[in-house]
Amino acid sequence: MTLSLQGQVAFITGGGSGLGAAAARRLAADGAIVAINDLSLEAAKKVADELGGLAFAFDVTDSTAFQNAVDTCAAQLGRLDIMINNAGIAPQDAASKMDLVMDNMGKRMAGNIAEMEPTNYLLDLTDENWDRMIKVHLYGTFYGCKAALKHMQPQRSGRIINISSVLGLYPAAGAPHYSVAKAGIITLTKSVAAEVAALGINVNAICPGYIRTPLLTPFSETMMAGITMRIGKGRLGEPEELAEMIRFLAGPESEYCTGDVFSVSGGYTG
Ligand SMILES: NC(=O)c1ccc[n+]([C@@H]2O[C@H](COP(=O)([O-])OP(=O)(O)OC[C@H]3O[C@@H](n4cnc5c(N)ncnc54)[C@H](O)[C@@H]3O)[C@@H](O)[C@H]2O)c1
Repeated sequence: MTLSLQGQVAFITGGGSGLGAAAARRLAADGAIVAINDLSLEAAKKVADELGGLAFAFDVTDSTAFQNAVDTCAAQLGRLDIMINNAGIAPQDAASKMDLVMDNMGKRMAGNIAEMEPTNYLLDLTDENWDRMIKVHLYGTFYGCKAALKHMQPQRSGRIINISSVLGLYPAAGAPHYSVAKAGIITLTKSVAAEVAALGINVNAICPGYIRTPLLTPFSETMMAGITMRIGKGRLGEPEELAEMIRFLAGPESEYCTGDVFSVSGGYTG
């Protein structure tokens, strides 16, 4: 039996954990050869070794390191078919303000809006945190698209899948930098897709809702309860559920999808 991704080469950033690792396992199950990037070689190697793939340690904000790794991967494996720009970091800042947010919510529900205290999310956001968030997500995805297109354009085929977020669609007050970066990924996706559609390359974005991965570790129990209330399904998603969408966009069934944005959110309403 020939598997539907047999022999295809997939490069996955942030593949040492969470959604990236689940995607790698799902694509490998259908025959893809996976190259796993992460910040630490140990994290990347653990997943790569499990799946018989390659490991690359670099920071996605380093454009030269990114291009070199993708070039090396394509040289060693002979091609590049699938690029998943997934590496990401959580907005840490929101968790510490949860008590204030809950207190304000009580005042709002009681109709005492004038008594609500400023949360100062934006005022307390440092230049460094803003820069790092935009760099990892938006620059990282830009560099990933560039590195992939260098190989996909001459091939006249390829799939680029950029991991955005529901916060790119419904910005959160507590995470302006994350929301902006994720919204930027959606626009970048559409722009690049329009450029390369005629070259046989599909570029799409996925907006996950809240998925059970280590990214959510900083979120308190109260915060998670507040989030779950806004999920129609009443539960977090599992990385494997998200990986099914990644598999769809990497495979032949999604041939007509490009420049498109797919939510996997369990009915998250923002
Ligand atoms: N888990 C969720 O609820 C959720 C929701 C929406 C979007 N996302 C997005 O999904 C993607 C994957 O997140 P996850 O939930 O699997 O988190 P995770 O923390 O489990 O995995 C992210 C991985 O990316 C790596 N990484 C971080 N910065 C990097 C960098 N600069 N260079 C290379 N690797 C880097 C981390 O080391 C980690 O292994 C992220 O882009 C995240 O924003 C996650």
